[in-house]
Amino acid sequence: MAIAPTFDIQLTEADLREQLRTDVLWGLSSRRKWLPSKWFYDARGSKLFDLITGLPEYYPARTERALLHGCADEIARQASGATELVELGSGSPEKTRLLLNALSAHGSLCSYVPQDVSESALRAAADWASDEFPYLSIHGIVSDFTTMLRALPHGGRRLVALLGGTLGNLAPFDRTAFLGELHRVLTPGEQVLVGVGLVTDPAVMIPAYDDAAGVTAEFNRNVLHVLNDRLGADFDPLGFEHFAVWDPDLEWVEMRLAATKPMRVTVPDLDLVADFAAGEQIRTEISAKFRLPALRNELAAAGFRTRRAWADPDHRFALVLADR
Ligand code: SAH
Ligand code: AVI
Repeated sequence: MAIAPTFDIQLTEADLREQLRTDVLWGLSSRRKWLPSKWFYDARGSKLFDLITGLPEYYPARTERALLHGCADEIARQASGATELVELGSGSPEKTRLLLNALSAHGSLCSYVPQDVSESALRAAADWASDEFPYLSIHGIVSDFTTMLRALPHGGRRLVALLGGTLGNLAPFDRTAFLGELHRVLTPGEQVLVGVGLVTDPAVMIPAYDDAAGVTAEFNRNVLHVLNDRLGADFDPLGFEHFAVWDPDLEWVEMRLAATKPMRVTVPDLDLVADFAAGEQIRTEISAKFRLPALRNELAAAGFRTRRAWADPDHRFALVLADR
């Protein structure tokens, strides 16, 4: 019989509201308005992201899944001492099945620890894992991986996965801080597995962030719904147009929302009034794409030694396994 999953809610709704207040105050008072992408992911945003992963244009999800099909066994061999798979930003961890199967077959895996800022996604993930892997102990954590890595459980030997390209959603400075902190909380012998999008043709990348069905546009606007729901803001999400832009110098895709007309938005919780000129934009996400040698250097600068990397034949996505 499956052991019921356990949960550790390290971030409550009240904590999230408090953090959102700070982020919105900064982001919407700036001359160039921006919002951190982690606020896409309430229950609706997590569902929209799941829909994105099934879109024909969104190659990262299916490419990573195909890669895992081919290399999960090898990853498991290289990580055969791991007793615990900790998955940061687990979302819907359906493709993690491949990893969990391989790690269970090859080694001494005892537990799976999905972690996410979205409680609804996390609970669904933990319930799914406990049904599929009744012999594993499942412990779900609601927290923020940019600030709360120290509170991850330890005891076993961990393989920490950050899949889907989520590392690319951190700005370079935040990415350096994240990798440094991850290195500090892990102990020698533990490992990390990151899935990253690679720099490829903008004609392939841009449609992935601006699909024909408009799902990504709705996902992008969801951040405005979140501000309305959590802070009582009065955004008209449909008054904003979705854009995806490739920045060839910074090598990232930026998602933006542009006001279609002049608008005044109030956020009563913050006593904030934000005026938008027609065409004025809010940057809502960066999705950095990587080159493997530079990523290896970034990992090395944080103290990790790359053990192996796997890329798809078109070189659009890669999985990198590194040792602490
Ligand atoms: N790993 C999954 C989901 C990727 S979507 C996949 O590969 O398909 C990114 C996930 O990271 C979302 O579930 C989102 O809620 C979570 N997330 C984003 N920022 C986060 C943060 N700062 N801390 C914890 N989780 C975060
Ligand atoms: C979660 N993250 C890796 C996705 C990405 O591709 O940057 C989020 C996303 N944004 C638009 N589509 C998907």
